[in-house]
Order: sequence, then structure tokens, then C-alpha cells
Amino acid sequence: MQASVINIESVRNDFPILKRKVHKDKLLVYLDNAATTQKPIQVIEAISNYYLNYNSNIHRAVHELAEEATAAYETTRDKVAKFINAKNREEIVFVRGTTEAINLVAYAWGRQNVQKDDIIVTTEYEHHSNIVPWQLLVKEKGAKLEYIGVDDNGELILDQLDTYLATGKVKLVTFSQMSNVLGTITKSEEIIKKCHKYNVRVLVDGAQSVPHMKVDLQKLDCDFFAFSAHKMLGPTGVGILWARKELLQEMVPFNGGGDMIREVHKYETTWNDLPYKFEAGTPNIADVIGFAAAIDYLEKIGMDKVREHEVDITKYALEKLSQIKGIKIYGPMNTEKRGGVISFNLGDIHPHDLATIIDEDGVAIRSGHHCAQVLMERLDVSATSRASFYIYNTKEEVDVLIKSLNRAKELFKL
Ligand code: ALA
Repeated sequence: MQASVINIESVRNDFPILKRKVHKDKLLVYLDNAATTQKPIQVIEAISNYYLNYNSNIHRAVHELAEEATAAYETTRDKVAKFINAKNREEIVFVRGTTEAINLVAYAWGRQNVQKDDIIVTTEYEHHSNIVPWQLLVKEKGAKLEYIGVDDNGELILDQLDTYLATGKVKLVTFSQMSNVLGTITKSEEIIKKCHKYNVRVLVDGAQSVPHMKVDLQKLDCDFFAFSAHKMLGPTGVGILWARKELLQEMVPFNGGGDMIREVHKYETTWNDLPYKFEAGTPNIADVIGFAAAIDYLEKIGMDKVREHEVDITKYALEKLSQIKGIKIYGPMNTEKRGGVISFNLGDIHPHDLATIIDEDGVAIRSGHHCAQVLMERLDVSATSRASFYIYNTKEEVDVLIKSLNRAKELFKL
């Protein structure tokens, strides 16, 4: 195995699934990490330990199991706050995922603050989850949705943001900190500074960034931030909405029900303190507890090393992929500007056909529009193939991908 700043052999041993064979005898080469990552044994055990030993509801009963479960659940909140350097633990709201976090802001903040003729600005490289909630909001309010375009290098055309801000009508600017298709890392701090000069709120979608690089919310200085556990070794069904305390205090609840109230009377209800005001009903206790083990795992490696490893493997993959005749790679070629997500097309082979052929060799990639049809229109394609890397991937696996792509080329006589 080629050298890395991460002890890959030891990391791979923590992921039982990486030992499995697919299509009878092909060792799994899992390169679909932007969709979801695999889970280390530490996360799997944390979840089963909860169910085996202290399964209980939280925040309600005084028995020992309930106290243990509540303590473990709330410990995750502290770990999340520390991981992203949030100022206050009350600003961390557990939701189902990035999609729910963005919808929460669109409903609870958007409906209170966006009026007719106001403008929401998003970008052409957003995931559908950072487009559709805003479409719903602007239709309801008679407001407008505008897009920051993407240039031929896969980067945002930031002059367009200046034009929108100059209208004085922008209420919110939202963007992904790292594109799930192009891998482009957005110049987030520059955008946020510009927006705040105009007193415009900023929501950052961190679904593809938090798992792969150090994110410091106090430095970033945005107003809302969303990400998901399952893209960073954690379980599915857990996400985080972070928002400034004063904004959360002003916002009305998104869901009504148990645990989010202080007092309920026949016709009036008062709200619980933050963040519980936004956590109605029994939450996903087991998976929130599992998420803490994922954060511990990443912190033990160190996010700087995670990023360094991915830069190294992405550089290697970009070099090798570029040598394949007929390939078109999307997004910046400079690894300082991108993460470990590489979208490409090979000749006129349909991405679904390509993904099916290389799957026969054990290589799992994603093909399709990647929930980014606005970007597909901009790139003038209906779909791409996408390989995405994480802490357990090796250069040898990139070699398997390349060999397999060459086999597909031969099959299609390209
Ligand atoms: N958002 C995930 C992806 O990009 C599902 O594949």
C-alpha cells in the first residue's frame, strides 16, 4: 500500500464492510463517499451498545436508563459544537439531515422574514435540497430566486453576487461550501463578508465540506449552517442545523409536539429553551449517540490529515484519469480549489452504463444527475459519473478504477 499521512491499513481494519466481496469474488472498491460513507466498527458498536444496555427515551423520565441515554445524547451535542467550533451548544439543533435543516430555515426563518419582491440568492451548483425549499418559499411570498453562475472552471462567478446585493432586495444568500458534483470549494468567507456588509443573512450547506476539512464556524461567521452525519462516518437520519442564537430565538418552531414546549394550555403554548424548541417528538436517539463515535474517530485522525490524504489521492486520480483518451473531467483541476469528488464522462458512454460495467469489477461509483439538475443543464449534460474518496481509500483503488474504465472503453470500442 502506498504511503499516506493516515495509517490506512489500521483505518481499513475498522471498517468491516471493506472486506466484503461483490459479484462473487471482487473486492469492494467503494468510491461513492459523497453519497454516504461507510461506518467504522466504533460507530456500529456505539449504536448497538445503546440498544443492548440503555435504550430509553430522553429528557423525560428520571430512571437510570433515561439519565444515561439523555447524557449520551447531549454529549453528542457538545462534541458537534466543539468539532465545528460553534460558540454555544444551544445553537446545535439535531435534525434528520442537511435537507431537513435547510427546510427548517426556509419555513421557520423564511416565512417570517421574506416578503414580496425580496430576493433569495443561491448558486448553479447547488444540490436540489438547497434549491427546492427556496422555490417553494419564493412562490408562496411572491419573492424571487436568483442564481450565481458557474464558470467553465467550475467556480462561482462572484461578480454576479455583487449585482444582486446592489439591488438592496436580497434577504438571504445560500451556497454549498463544497460542490457535490464538481468538488469545488466555495470562497465562503469572501461571500459571507460581502453579504454582511449589506446586512444579508447567509446559509452555508456544509454537507460535503464538514466531513473532509476543518470547518470553524466562528471564523466562517455565517448565520445558518447545515450538514449530515452519514457523510462523515456517522449513521443516516442525523443532521445538524447550526444557527445564531438570536436568530433561533426569533424563529417560530418548525414542528409542534412533545419536548419543544414549556407549557401547553387549551389555546396557547409557550416554547421550550433552545435548542429543544426545534426538536419536537422523540428524536433519533441511537443514531445521535452513534454520531459521537464518528466525530471521535475523525478527531483522532485529525481533520488536517483527512484533508491532506484526500488532496493526495485526488491529485493522483486526476492525473491518472486525465490520461484516459476521451475523458471529460468537470470542476477545477487544482486540488487546492477542490475536494475529493471527481465527476467525469467517458466518450459517449452513458454514465449509468459505465457505472454498471465497472461495478462488475467491484468498483462502486455514482452515476446520474447527483440531485443537481440545474448544474447538469449548465454543463449541458444529462448525467455524469462520479468517484468520491474518503479516509479509507487508497491509490491502489484508484488504479482499479482506471483499469476498469479502460475495460469499459474497450467494450464500447472507444
Ligand atoms: N447528496 C448525496 C450525493 O451527492 C446523496 O450523492
